[in-house]
Amino acid sequence: MPTLHIIYASTSGNTEHVVETLKEHLSSTQKDLTVSVQRAEEAQAEDINKGDVLLLASSTWNYDAVEGYLNMHMREFLEKRAKDADLSGKPVGLIILGDDRYYYTGRGTERFMQYLLSHNGKSCTMPLIIINDPYGQEEKVVRWCDTLMGCFTSSE
Ligand SMILES: Cc1cc2nc3c(=O)[nH]c(=O)nc-3n(C[C@H](O)[C@H](O)[C@H](O)COP(=O)(O)O)c2cc1C
Repeated sequence: MPTLHIIYASTSGNTEHVVETLKEHLSSTQKDLTVSVQRAEEAQAEDINKGDVLLLASSTWNYDAVEGYLNMHMREFLEKRAKDADLSGKPVGLIILGDDRYYYTGRGTERFMQYLLSHNGKSCTMPLIIINDPYGQEEKVVRWCDTLMGCFTSSE
């Protein structure tokens, strides 16, 4: 049975909505797939190695009044608890949210990629980048699910 482990951070619920949309679509289309979901606040170092494929999801946020960072809880998880992780070539899917009112629109993508590069993770598909209100962009999420499924063949 293939397994997908999702770790996400969401401040106002937008990333959570995208993750829920994805999860619902997968549960109706991928009967063999086991999906587990965890909030970044609750994730411990070892959780990053769970699943045949790992999915990290976060919005872009500010830190110390500087924009373009990952959501605080995702940042704390990656930079503190999972800072010594070795992903050993693990296939990782990425979801990033942002808003074009901000100069560093969607820059969380770059933050995630920097983490994968320095922790031996493999970005197994193009990241899903949702800019502005995710409500109404569900079709994009559902289409991306199919490309995410390609990560399982690359994990074999
Ligand atoms: C304080 C604050 C800082 C933000 N900084 C950025 C940013 O630097 N770049 C960006 O693209 N979006 C930024 N956003 C927009 C959020 O990423 C966007 O609203 C997202 O949908 C929120 O998702 P969430 O509710 O899951 O956290 C910021 C929003 C807030 C409130």
